[in-house]
Amino acid sequence: MLILGIETSCDETGIALYHSERGLLAHALHTQIAMHQDYGGVVPELASRDHIRRVLPLIRQVMREAGAELAHVDAVAYTQGPGLAGALLVGTSVANALAFTLGIPAIGIHHLEGHLLSPLLAAKPPQFPFVALLVSGGHTQLMRVGAVGEYELLGETVDDAAGEAFDKTAQLLGLGYPGGPALAQLAGQGRANRYRLPRPMLEQMHQTGNLDFSFSGLKTAVMLLVRKEAPDAAARADVAESFQEAIVDVLVAKSLYALEQTGLTQLVVAGGVGANRRLRERLDRAAAEQGYFVFYPEFEFCTDNGAMIALAGALRLGAGVVGAAPPPRPVPNRKPIGPKAGLPQSYAFTVKPRWDLSAMSL
Ligand code: KG4
Ligand code: ZN
Repeated sequence: MLILGIETSCDETGIALYHSERGLLAHALHTQIAMHQDYGGVVPELASRDHIRRVLPLIRQVMREAGAELAHVDAVAYTQGPGLAGALLVGTSVANALAFTLGIPAIGIHHLEGHLLSPLLAAKPPQFPFVALLVSGGHTQLMRVGAVGEYELLGETVDDAAGEAFDKTAQLLGLGYPGGPALAQLAGQGRANRYRLPRPMLEQMHQTGNLDFSFSGLKTAVMLLVRKEAPDAAARADVAESFQEAIVDVLVAKSLYALEQTGLTQLVVAGGVGANRRLRERLDRAAAEQGYFVFYPEFEFCTDNGAMIALAGALRLGAGVVGAAPPPRPVPNRKPIGPKAGLPQSYAFTVKPRWDLSAMSL
C-alpha cells in the first residue's frame, strides 16, 4: 500500500510517500526558519500562508521523485494535531480534499505519535514494547509504548518542554531562533561544569517514583545568572554548557528510571531535542553500562517531517483504522480500498490543536 504523508503542524511543510512493503520512497521538507527568524519565533499567520504556498508543489515533487502518480496512492495521512490551528488546517484540508477526489481514506495522525514511531524508519528499528522519550519544542513526555496505538503516559513536564527551555535559554544568551541547535553548538565551546544549575524534580525521584519533569526553574536560574554575571562571549559558552548538562542529566536519569520501573530494555528517543548530540552521547554511555538499548530516528527525521506521518498512517491502516472523523472504525475487509469498498468516511474534518496522546487508542 502506498501512503502519502502530510505534516503542517508548525513551521515545516513535510511531505512523504511511504510504501508498506518497500519503505520510504521519497520525502521533501520546506522549513520556514528563515521566514520567522526576524520575529524571534513562529508567527502563526505567516506559517499558515507559507504552508498553503508549499504543500502542493512539494506533493508534486515527492510524486516525481518516487516515480509514482496520485492515482496509485492508497491513503493520505496528515497531522491532525496538536499544533497551530491555522497551520494544521492547511494540511488537513489538502489531505481530505485529495482523499475525497481519489476516493481513498484520509487518516488523521497525532503529531507525537509520528515522532515516537519515527525510529521505526531506521535500518535497525526497535521492537514493541519500548519506552519512548518524546522531547520536542512543545512536549516532554515519557511513554510506555506497547504497540501502535497503545500509549501509556509515565511522566511529562509540568511547565516548559525541554525544547522550549533550550529555545528560551538561547534567547537569554542572545542566540537566534530556533535556539536549540545554536545553544548546543555554543555549549560545545564551553568549559565543563563551570556553573552549578538546578536539576529540577530529580533529587527525590527514587523515593517518589515520579517521572514528571520541570524546566522553568532551570530557565529562571540561567536568567538570574546572566543578570548577575553579565557574561562575555566565553562565559556565555560556559553557561550554555552548564545548562545543557543540567537538562541532559535530568533526561538521562528519568529515562533510565522509566526503563527500570517498566522492566523494559529499549528506549526510543524522538522529537527535535533528540537531535542533541550530547544527549545521545550520555544516553548511549549510560545504556551500554546498564544493558539497555537506545534507538534514535535518523537526524533528518528527529525534527518535524512528513515521513513519520506517512509511516504512522501506514501502521494505523495496517491495524484497520480508517478515517479522520471520530470514532475511528475498523474496516473488516480492507481490500480493495476506495468508495466502492464502502469505507466509512465522510471527509468532514476537524483539527485538534490540543490533543492528549495517552487518551487516544486504536
Ligand atoms: O520536534 P520538533 O521539530 O518540533 C516540535 O514538534 O516542537 O522540535 C523542535 C525543538 C525546538 O525547541 C528546537 O530548539 C529543538 O527541538 N532542537 C534542539 C536541537 N535541535 C532541535 N534542542 C537541542 N539540541 C538540538 N540539537
Ligand atoms: Zn514535532
